[in-house]
Amino acid sequence: MKNNKITVFGASGNIGSLLIHLLSKAQIETIAVTRNCHNTTDFPFSRWVQADMSHKESLYATMENSKAVFLLSGNSPTVVEEQKNVIDVAKEMAIKHIVKLSSGAADPNSRFYVPYSHGQIENYLIASGIHYTILRPNGIMQNWLGEIADAVRKERKFYEATGDGKRAHVDRRDISDVAFKCLTVPETHFDKIYFLTSDKAVNYYDVATAISNVIHEEVIYCPISFEQAKQDMEEKNMPATLIETFLAYDAAQRNGETEIVTDCVRTILGCPPRTLETFIADHATYFQ
Ligand SMILES: NC(=O)c1ccc[n+]([C@@H]2O[C@H](COP(=O)([O-])OP(=O)(O)OC[C@H]3O[C@@H](n4cnc5c(N)ncnc54)[C@H](OP(=O)(O)O)[C@@H]3O)[C@@H](O)[C@H]2O)c1
Repeated sequence: MKNNKITVFGASGNIGSLLIHLLSKAQIETIAVTRNCHNTTDFPFSRWVQADMSHKESLYATMENSKAVFLLSGNSPTVVEEQKNVIDVAKEMAIKHIVKLSSGAADPNSRFYVPYSHGQIENYLIASGIHYTILRPNGIMQNWLGEIADAVRKERKFYEATGDGKRAHVDRRDISDVAFKCLTVPETHFDKIYFLTSDKAVNYYDVATAISNVIHEEVIYCPISFEQAKQDMEEKNMPATLIETFLAYDAAQRNGETEIVTDCVRTILGCPPRTLETFIADHATYFQ
């Protein structure tokens, strides 16, 4: 049988599920991977396969008759070995192209866990000889739908440790649209690294204004210290490695290191990335 399928890791997650939707709509045959096939939703042209990246032998079935792989998982302590397993099996299975979801902070020499692990995996993928496309989102707008939205709903205030530092967060829908393009028009995107941002870097005063304008009530951003942010994360029992990483992200934003804006999304999609205002309007109910 002709190798014409696309394998999607992380298909049950935030970005992967949007990507499966797009591939299904385009009538492209996909293999959607999950560690647990119960509670999955079926999509036309898509088939769920149960596998665990930490068990190499389970991965062969995920790439049968595939030409390309979308590589994404969470930030588990074993993510480097897990994603290397996928790359090793892809090489054995003669997969032509891997699109890896990485991070804007990826750095193989970082002392912080998430940038370090993405950087290590990126290098391993590049050295594998398989065509790669690396997507590095510089912060995702949907992050605001968690604690920030909860706090806004409760008290019309929210708390972050980034001072007035800016970041050009990108909408998750733009990330999956970009991944779709890279997987379906692959040659253009072979062996490229894309730093994904929106068109404008914003700070949390801008986010508060955008929410206020949409819900027609004043919302206030309250800057907090790194010590306070650390204590808040410790009280939620977050792993120390993640707390350290998130504080480093906050420090970089506060120090003006994350203001970078690229035209990658606009160039790849042929239209502008979604804006802060569009994002908040589309998710108004989260903040009301
Ligand atoms: N939030 C941000 O601002 C930001 C910025 C840049 C980069 N990122 C990166 O985005 C990624 C997370 O993306 P997301 O939010 O879409 O993920 P998510 O919703 O947390 O989903 C994680 C997915 O990975 C799958 N998975 C995890 N471990 C697996 C394993 N051992 N074997 C097979 N599948 C496994 C899960 O599948 P099952 O549970 O169904 O098995 C799930 O579908 C992380 O790499 C993070 O570093 C995030």
